[in-house]
Amino acid sequence: MPQQTMLMIKPDAVERNLCGKILARLESERFQVRRLKMIHLQPAEAQRFYAVHEGKPFLENLVAYMSSGPICAAVLEREDAVSHLRRVVGATDPGEAETGTIRRDFGIDKTRNAVHASDAPETAAAEIGFFGLTLDREER
Ligand code: CMP
Repeated sequence: MPQQTMLMIKPDAVERNLCGKILARLESERFQVRRLKMIHLQPAEAQRFYAVHEGKPFLENLVAYMSSGPICAAVLEREDAVSHLRRVVGATDPGEAETGTIRRDFGIDKTRNAVHASDAPETAAAEIGFFGLTLDREER
């Protein structure tokens, strides 16, 4: 059964014109792009998106960065979408990410790490809902 997950292309990658390259790479990994939205988050929205990191020392910096420019949110679908996307995206720190991963190839540092990927099916559903990208029943 196909599964959905959420990819967010972060401001550093949008600014460097990497949306097309990143989506093309994922399409070649047999992900289907089901929904796509470009949006400039307000700081309060970025804070809400990353509420799970409340109290972490990096949150303030992360929120400022995530609201510094437009992001691109995509709903991606394939078998094992959540775990496969995490694998293709690579470790949080681009310097530690495996060769050939998106963060290794396009990330700059831990904050400007090019993309975010949902970490579990439940998180994916919540994050897709956050961006108002949930597919209607007849579209699924
Ligand atoms: P992301 O997958 O979007 O989820 C949370 C983000 O916090 C993470 O990617 C990083 O961009 C950011 N971040 C910044 N500093 C850290 C850190 N020390 N540990 C984990 N995440 C960090």
